[in-house]
Amino acid sequence: MDTLTLQSPLDMHLHLRDEQMLQLVAPLTSQTFSGAIIMPNLVPPVDTKEALIAYKSRILQAIDDHQFEPFMTLFFKEYSKEFLESVKDEITAIKLYPAGITTNSEGGVESIDVISLAPTLNAMSELGIPLCVHGETNGFVMDREKEFMNIYDALASEFPDLTIIMEHITTKEAVDMLDRHDNLYATITLHHLLITLDDVAGGMLQPHLFCKPIAKRYEDRDALLEVALNAHPKVMFGSDSAPHPQHAKEACGCAAGVFTAPIALQVLAELFEKHDKLENLQKFISDNACDIYNIKPLKKEIKLKKYPFEVPAYYKKGDQQVVPMYANQTIQWSLM
Ligand code: NCD
Ligand code: ZN
Repeated sequence: MDTLTLQSPLDMHLHLRDEQMLQLVAPLTSQTFSGAIIMPNLVPPVDTKEALIAYKSRILQAIDDHQFEPFMTLFFKEYSKEFLESVKDEITAIKLYPAGITTNSEGGVESIDVISLAPTLNAMSELGIPLCVHGETNGFVMDREKEFMNIYDALASEFPDLTIIMEHITTKEAVDMLDRHDNLYATITLHHLLITLDDVAGGMLQPHLFCKPIAKRYEDRDALLEVALNAHPKVMFGSDSAPHPQHAKEACGCAAGVFTAPIALQVLAELFEKHDKLENLQKFISDNACDIYNIKPLKKEIKLKKYPFEVPAYYKKGDQQVVPMYANQTIQWSLM
């Protein structure tokens, strides 16, 4: 039987939510991942040291006895250097959302202009705090990421010592940006390596595949696959696993987000194997992220086997019920 061993898998973009949903989803990541970058888009957003520390301890309580490190982030606002110095040891990055662009981002930045944001970004740069960015304008939905590229250009050239992560990239244009600036990196999700807009809306509408940024064209997916499968040193895995209750997805006014946490590693193994690139998965799933963020993950060895696994229709705890990607379908790799 084919088996695969991965060392300290990392999910560099994860939504764990809070309360009952946190209790449900946190163990589904911590069973297989050694650590994850935890997104701060709670209601209200995580934007104080007290909220951050309290959220981290709720996460640690929710992960059973798994060995797992939550890498915490703050929701971007204009912060003083004194504040950032005081919180530096508690955070791994700060996440910037354009206002209103996605789930719980209403308190984000109204207009991303390098002059007004300079005091905060210079302080982050001096303190070595990376900036994670949700890079979409509020233009036509298929063009939002592409239109954001000149903002990445401005940020990367104006703040050359700031590590900037283009989160969940979905376009060929974003892939091309990687080689244009030394300080620009990217996370790529599982679903954007697999689907295009056709899978979301080409036939019957698939609410469980609806997310921000929306899946794009075939040529975009191919560009993402090219850098992920070859473990381009500036890209790393970030699932953007974004659980919403089943009733909020299967609704008139469907919440954006694809829930992939429990199947991510297994399906990545299937994808990399299909393209005869399994030897690159370790870099994509962990090593590149360690180099980019300069982190040492908790040691954790995960073994997978090539053996069919039927993905459950839903995961449930208390009143919370979430539908994963590939619900009721069979995937080709399983956890050992
Ligand atoms: C995310 C969420 O639900 O928090 N949704 C999504 O569609 N990806 C937010 C985000 O990362 O955009
Ligand atoms: Zn996200």
